[in-house]
Amino acid sequence: MTPRVATTQAAPKHPVEPREAPSLPWDIVGAEAGLSPASRPGRAIQGGPRNLLRISPADPASPGKPYELFEVIPLSPLVGAEIRGVDLGAALDAALRDELNRAWLEWKVLFFRDQWISGAQQEEFARGWGELEQQQLTAPGTGITRYVKDAGNAGWENAWHADMTGRLEPAKAFVLRLGVGPDAGGDTIFTDAAAAYDNLPAEVRAAIDPLRAVHDLSATIGRFVTPEEAARVRSEFPPVVHPVVRTHPETGRRTLFVNSVFTDRIIDMDPERGERALQYLFRQLQVPEYQVRFSWRPGSVAFWDNRAVQHYAVSDYFPALRITERVAIAGDRPY
Ligand SMILES: [Fe+2]
Repeated sequence: MTPRVATTQAAPKHPVEPREAPSLPWDIVGAEAGLSPASRPGRAIQGGPRNLLRISPADPASPGKPYELFEVIPLSPLVGAEIRGVDLGAALDAALRDELNRAWLEWKVLFFRDQWISGAQQEEFARGWGELEQQQLTAPGTGITRYVKDAGNAGWENAWHADMTGRLEPAKAFVLRLGVGPDAGGDTIFTDAAAAYDNLPAEVRAAIDPLRAVHDLSATIGRFVTPEEAARVRSEFPPVVHPVVRTHPETGRRTLFVNSVFTDRIIDMDPERGERALQYLFRQLQVPEYQVRFSWRPGSVAFWDNRAVQHYAVSDYFPALRITERVAIAGDRPY
């Protein structure tokens, strides 16, 4: 007689995929496998020329079309350009707004120098791209948020991220202006998340295309506020799910949409393997060819597309004073 065996089993906490033969870079778990150095984790990104497609040929920004209303000075071949000849304090007419938008979609982050504008003028410029949003979770209110860094408050935004991806509809864009800054240091680095995606091996792109990941605001924000504030943030902004690769709603580009600050885990993946996959993808965003580094001066403005880039605020100027003011433009749910 066959012994009776239990036929029911508690469901695993996280549904996991079946174990299968290693086939992706994050499945290579160490030197003990006898692999050459270039095949081991952390070394799997190969050298040589990158595929640096600044803009897709199908893009509405019409690559190659000249700019007539201002000068465009590229700060890298791929991402980031300084715009000369535009006063952000003056009213934007439709022609200038449209041409700036074309440059913005092409370069993903635009920089302006010597903009001695008020907060109201900064908000007015931002409104050219949509509704402003309440951006500071700990001090709710639409409009300008001021960040003061000094001996009592060091810059801690020195980790790669897109802003506020723990929200269901993360902001579309930001306009940041420097009022006071150190003589040297305090740069911001931006990375092109479409280039990061384009340069992944084909089998990795195929593997991550259908995946989704959990993003959580409270884990990060909670470190800097009181327990009561953290509880409020957690209840107001519970963890959300976004695609690992999002489609830019205006350009159609596929962009890597996981980041080291807000992304918690990949859904339906063994947690340990999922973390290795995330670490692999985070490293891909750190490749210098996808980046531009901007050195601020008082009056400098950066206007970035939060759907297209991630950024890293270099925290090398402590205890110097650095004051910035930021406006956020509301975004859509990533798909
Ligand atoms: Fe940020």
